[in-house]
Amino acid sequence: MNKYIGIDLGTSSVKILLVDSEGKILKTVSREYPVYYPQGGWSEQNPSDWYNATIDGLYELICDADKKSIKGISFGGQMHGLVILDENDEVIRPAILWNDGRTSKETSYLNEVIGTDKLMEYTANIAFAGFTAPKILWIKENEPDNFARIKKIMLPKDYLAYKLSGVFATDYSDASGMLLLDVKNRCWSEKMCEICSIKTDTLPTLFESYDKIGTLLPNIADKLGLGEVVVAIGAGDNAGAAIGTGISSSGDCNISLGTSGTVFISQDTFVENKCGALHNFCHANGKYHLMGCILSAASCNKWWVEEILGSGDFRAEEDGLDMLIGKNNVYFLPYLMGERTPHNDVDAKGAFIGMRPSTTRKEMTLSVLEGVAYALRDSVELAKASGCKIESTKICGGGAKSEVWRKILANVLGIPVVRPLIEEGPSYGGAILAMVASGEYANVNEATSKLAKVKDITYPTKEITDAYNEKYKIFKALYPALKDAYKKI
Ligand code: XUL
Repeated sequence: MNKYIGIDLGTSSVKILLVDSEGKILKTVSREYPVYYPQGGWSEQNPSDWYNATIDGLYELICDADKKSIKGISFGGQMHGLVILDENDEVIRPAILWNDGRTSKETSYLNEVIGTDKLMEYTANIAFAGFTAPKILWIKENEPDNFARIKKIMLPKDYLAYKLSGVFATDYSDASGMLLLDVKNRCWSEKMCEICSIKTDTLPTLFESYDKIGTLLPNIADKLGLGEVVVAIGAGDNAGAAIGTGISSSGDCNISLGTSGTVFISQDTFVENKCGALHNFCHANGKYHLMGCILSAASCNKWWVEEILGSGDFRAEEDGLDMLIGKNNVYFLPYLMGERTPHNDVDAKGAFIGMRPSTTRKEMTLSVLEGVAYALRDSVELAKASGCKIESTKICGGGAKSEVWRKILANVLGIPVVRPLIEEGPSYGGAILAMVASGEYANVNEATSKLAKVKDITYPTKEITDAYNEKYKIFKALYPALKDAYKKI
């Protein structure tokens, strides 16, 4: 049976899957790499770390596989990161990541001086600090020598694809998050390139996520002992995850509980979306989607359990939380890296509110999980207000493994939460896109309807949902009350 490789180029690690053409996961490998925080609110990574970790992981992944049966490879990658190469294809500086908040000045310039109306007209989106265009403006202003050397601008997974295939390419879903793509017409925006003082030929060629862009470079294929392996360009990690969980028709929703948290709502056609707080992007199946993104999701729980409690035992910390669901009066604001949706505020920070001397460790742990769920509800509410009908949601990412977190989400959102059989969203989505590019399936829909299966469903209960509806009103009032203080902290 033919086999395919899916690569999730994440923020904390690269996760690589070997999958057969019937969707069975044969092996999973991951490799971690560091994130650098050179200043508060900044975050960077070395593209060479991504590449070295991927190659190292690939060796282990395929060491005992029938190499001739491996036919295709593709990606789901962390979005928005700025990778810049010079005339010798050398990386000019570390990549500036999706959750980096250094560009508040450039973001305000784009939204206020160029204006959100114009940005909407050119790209269907407004500017957020993590998007790529404000980062280009930041380099221009703060590192003019580096700016002058730029010959290629690419996103994280596109760097991997370039190194592996030699083809300078990107896909529409990931390109949407650069604020350089005319999302509606699926082409680069000349206007945005002018605003950022870059030439369109510094940008990659655009493909659909399931398009073959080439094959593994012969020297890499030889080193790995592989034959001719198709490289499909793949998708941004959220669109990749949506492919992996089978999200394809209007209103289908997927929540990703990874380092970031996202609410991804599929749209069959491009719809003008006046609510700039939600991203209006291309999907990896050739269609479109809306998305809300919170910058810290499972990363809040990781920070709380590992750094603050010093325990690292997630299961033990969650023990007994079930009994407290819907009754907690401690609140947590999950803005550890500032916030994207809905506040677009790099100054926002984490906060605990509501403690008494009697407050327990369990209540505070629960408040972290609930705070993330409330913040995701902000995006769901915006989508509903834009006319989306969300009747249930799929879930993926590390946080999806927590039964109690799934129950909290089902009740905070008031909809069933559906867990797919395979929770490895972006890497599984990457493998599916590789299958389509290699001709194993005729199109993405045919592949996902066969490969994206359901494991179980968590249903909300009226009593708990009612309680959370009241608590969500309190949560919503907290950010406006803290907004001014955040600026001074
Ligand atoms: C989405 C976003 C994050 C990253 C995480 O807009 O910024 O979900 O893609 O990898």
